[in-house]
Amino acid sequence: MGEALPAIPAHPLPVAVRAPGKCIVFGEHAVVHGAPELLFALDLETQVYVAPGAVTRLNGDAEARTRNRYFAQALDSLWAGGGPIEVRALSRIPRAAGLGSSAAFVAALAAGLGAATGGIDRPTLAERSFQIERGAQGVGSPGDTAAVIGGGFLAVNGGSGDPLWTVRDGDRRWEVRRVEDPGWLWVVAHSGIPRSTADAVRAVGQRLSRPDGPALLAEFRRVAEEGIDAVGSGDRARVAELMTRNQELLREVGVSHPRLEALIEAAGPAAQAAKLTGAGAGGSIVALPKPGEETDLVRRLARAGGLPFVVRAAPSGVSLANEAPAG
Ligand code: MEV
Repeated sequence: MGEALPAIPAHPLPVAVRAPGKCIVFGEHAVVHGAPELLFALDLETQVYVAPGAVTRLNGDAEARTRNRYFAQALDSLWAGGGPIEVRALSRIPRAAGLGSSAAFVAALAAGLGAATGGIDRPTLAERSFQIERGAQGVGSPGDTAAVIGGGFLAVNGGSGDPLWTVRDGDRRWEVRRVEDPGWLWVVAHSGIPRSTADAVRAVGQRLSRPDGPALLAEFRRVAEEGIDAVGSGDRARVAELMTRNQELLREVGVSHPRLEALIEAAGPAAQAAKLTGAGAGGSIVALPKPGEETDLVRRLARAGGLPFVVRAAPSGVSLANEAPAG
């Protein structure tokens, strides 16, 4: 058996939940097509508070169910027949930035509703959260919600050992495995350009259906497989090489952006490597700083117009705020 992650215990309303974001190091987009991905839970937090209410509202908005597809999908999936609830969400994760704000909101709300309906184990929470995110976006993989739920570093469709869980969707399956956290600091920087994950995923799908698509996907796969090994063995220089190669592939499939390229260039002297993270076409970059040069890197990225954060992997995934974090 793989590592057993603690279930979200039963807890009556009101319930408070905290969830990390996510940062993809290797394999975004390719994971949607079954290739491996490596990502970590980002120590920027979303908090969701769910209490009984007179009408169902999200941050005071009684129309949120019609305006916010993630909220609507979560209620349909986990609160059908439940009474009106007052939900408040507060997040330090920039929205539409490729850093997991929607996955964190979905997993936190699903965990809160799961707690209020008798508790929920993490594999079920992962399956439900994927269905909710997928239902709202129409496309995508379970990678983002897996990171938020599992914490630490995770490989999807890669790595070795027993899976923590497997998410199935028709004839597709994604296995989620633990990868050892090398304990490094990373720097992410938001370009300020919002983007649509769904549009970017569809555009890459079209690009990969061209004649050279299978060869490109095979190269994405190789880079992520080797990247998972390199992170697991703490080989920084190799991780940097592979991040640079992954960015070339992401450029090739059309999801880089001039603002992302400007940030990657600005990172140059203080970083071992930098690449876009998440869906791209805007959103954020992730850089592996030269050890000790994190502050210089942050300065460079801010001067180039980015919103930078020094981050590391959050060891625990989503948890009730009144429960001690696992691990
Ligand atoms: C978005 O954070 C990552 C993508 O691979 C989409 C997905 O996996 O759902 C672009």
